[in-house]
Amino acid sequence: MTRSVAAASEFAQRSSALVEHIERCLADQLGDQDQLSQAMHYSVFNGGKRLRPLLVHASGELLGVDAELLDPVACAVELIHCYSLVHDDLPAMDDDALRRGRPTTHLQFDEATAILAGDALQALAFEILASDQALARHPAATLAMIKILTQACGARGMAGGQALDLHLEGCRPGRDALENMFRLKTGALIRAAVMMPTALARNLDPPAQAALGRFAEQVGLAFQICDDLLDIEGETAVIGKTVGSDEAHDKATWPALFGADAARERIAELASEAVASLERVDGSADGLLWLTDRLLNRDR
Ligand code: IPE
Ligand code: IPE
Ligand code: MG
Ligand code: MG
Ligand code: MG
Repeated sequence: MTRSVAAASEFAQRSSALVEHIERCLADQLGDQDQLSQAMHYSVFNGGKRLRPLLVHASGELLGVDAELLDPVACAVELIHCYSLVHDDLPAMDDDALRRGRPTTHLQFDEATAILAGDALQALAFEILASDQALARHPAATLAMIKILTQACGARGMAGGQALDLHLEGCRPGRDALENMFRLKTGALIRAAVMMPTALARNLDPPAQAALGRFAEQVGLAFQICDDLLDIEGETAVIGKTVGSDEAHDKATWPALFGADAARERIAELASEAVASLERVDGSADGLLWLTDRLLNRDR
């Protein structure tokens, strides 16, 4: 049977409760006594969509992984994402004033505190993976997940992509170069969210693992094209970020370079490739299919 992107699914019905659960897990990890802790807390608890932790859980469910083991993974991925946003907004990077509808961390606190909050959120992500008691029963899988996450956020992943993004300001790269930058700056962490649970899965054959990786890459790339479109066509009050920021900073974006209609076509093409990739993986893909729809058809 051919799978389609489900508008409503069992996972959809549980997603709000799952987000609340993830937020409780995150709150357990974050204090708010000193200024640095307050800045970390501010950067995490500010209305993020929590799509990456949901991807961790949806992927884990597809692979039959115990939910208790997925919580620390979901927290770690979201903390890396929040850190990346704090640094992305800094004056030296995108110099943005609004994030998730509130002043960016460097404006709410100060620049040094924002840099340190990002650093500390990143460290906390790895501390959680290294010290979680449930994961401690699976040391080899935990090490494998740490490897996936470090690669996704390092020089050959998100940080490398962010460097390319800054380098490409004011340039007109071809589609392959642009999409390579997107795969790194945004796709790598989305891929890690989907692939980390594979380390905890039993009996996942290599072709299915490769297909899941392709699904994650296609969704990750399309997600950034959507983000670029929202920066042009969205509303500041809805997306919680200043619309037009990319144009103001002469960013190389998909719609700016190739047109908004072509961007929408590219998203649709990647979405159908992603769904086709998922068909090669046995198990209930309900959650991942619903999330694909949420990630790629969104107004924020
Ligand atoms: C925004 O990600 C940054 C990108 C990588 C494009 P999200 O749109 O997932 O941001 P939040 O977490 O919901 O704020
Ligand atoms: C973000 O890309 C990529 C990150 C790794 C944070 P953008 O710079 O387009 O993300 P937004 O639009 O500021 O959320
Ligand atoms: Mg950026
Ligand atoms: Mg930005
Ligand atoms: Mg953007």
